[in-house]
Amino acid sequence: MEIKNLSWPLMSNNVTADDRNAMIEFLKTDAFLTNGPRVREFEEAWSKWLGVKYSVFVNSGASANLLTMTWVKNNIRTARVLVPAVTWVSDIATVLQNDLKPVFADISLKTLGIEEKYFPTCQVAFVTHLLGFSAFTKGIQHEVPYVLIEDCCESHGATFNGKKLGTFGLISNFSFYFAHHMSTIEGGMICTNDEEIYEEMRTLRSHGLLREIRSQSRKDKLATTYPHLSDQFIFLRSGYNVRNNEIGAVLGLSQLRRLDENNEKRRQNFEIFLNELSRDSGKFITDFHTEGSCNYALTLILKEADHALRTKLEAFLKACEVEFRRGLSGGGNQLRQPYLEAFKWNKDDFPNAEHVSDYGWYIGNYPDLAHDKIRDLCRLLRQF
Ligand SMILES: Cc1ncc(COP(=O)(O)O)c(C=O)c1O
Repeated sequence: MEIKNLSWPLMSNNVTADDRNAMIEFLKTDAFLTNGPRVREFEEAWSKWLGVKYSVFVNSGASANLLTMTWVKNNIRTARVLVPAVTWVSDIATVLQNDLKPVFADISLKTLGIEEKYFPTCQVAFVTHLLGFSAFTKGIQHEVPYVLIEDCCESHGATFNGKKLGTFGLISNFSFYFAHHMSTIEGGMICTNDEEIYEEMRTLRSHGLLREIRSQSRKDKLATTYPHLSDQFIFLRSGYNVRNNEIGAVLGLSQLRRLDENNEKRRQNFEIFLNELSRDSGKFITDFHTEGSCNYALTLILKEADHALRTKLEAFLKACEVEFRRGLSGGGNQLRQPYLEAFKWNKDDFPNAEHVSDYGWYIGNYPDLAHDKIRDLCRLLRQF
């Protein structure tokens, strides 16, 4: 078995010299540093890029999930929330933290997401577009009897029917963690076209403060309800402090400028990877639903449950210095995790989630990944 040092980390060069200079230049000024005009500018630029009316910049994707599920609790109360068994921990933890009921669905091996036919089974469908794949394959009707929420933390720039993911749901969440398509080091965004939701997210982000509401008339109207309180200190809800800051926004604005260009390079990398891998005798799944996808990671899933091959594959990747994560996002089937111990579940109901937990991996896909490296890896994998 040939081994080659490919020196291939999960992420590379995600904060460039230009980004660092943008932050340094900003810090040389005596500008305001906490949540202020740069945050607004980034939110507006992000809304324009995505194609939504409103965005709220928070300190992580998990915080975007938290505020979104708090909005569900405040507005839908005892909702059952459909979640995929394979997703990031915060997509389920925030459902539990808000005393909502998660209802788990298996994933499709074509999209790595929940199939659309299951969406109407709960009041809320909290869909994750995993590893840049669109969970949608058929389309969402305009009038649906459930609330659709999209987690796009791993799918910036991916589309369905030519429209960006994150524009279909009532609310959508993004993450700008270092390892994703673009980074503010830590950061997240909540997006919506609904003004009331936008205002509620702004207050939830900042301790529940009334003064965070953008609309002056709405603010004035509410303030008159509490004449005995100072209008600077009216806490409408039990909120959080999950604000981001001006430095994060400066970095976000700098990164956003090259997001489309970088995503195009990621798409090319993924296409080369899948084409090369599909020349293999058939050990790996390569027939994903790739239309509109935009991955920040290359997906490697064995077709068959083969423990010996898994051991060999992981030893091989380590020897080639290719960093990987088993279980796809979040380690695979969340129902296996200690924090969900109380949930009774049956492995037979989650065959795909179970399979990718044991026989699925992702490895890094970033703009400056050399095409030759991808071809080399696939050639070596074909020799297995
Ligand atoms: C699908 C998904 N949702 C939410 C998150 C949470 O984002 P963050 O790491 O910014 O908190 C992640 C993080 O990787 C994720 O992959």
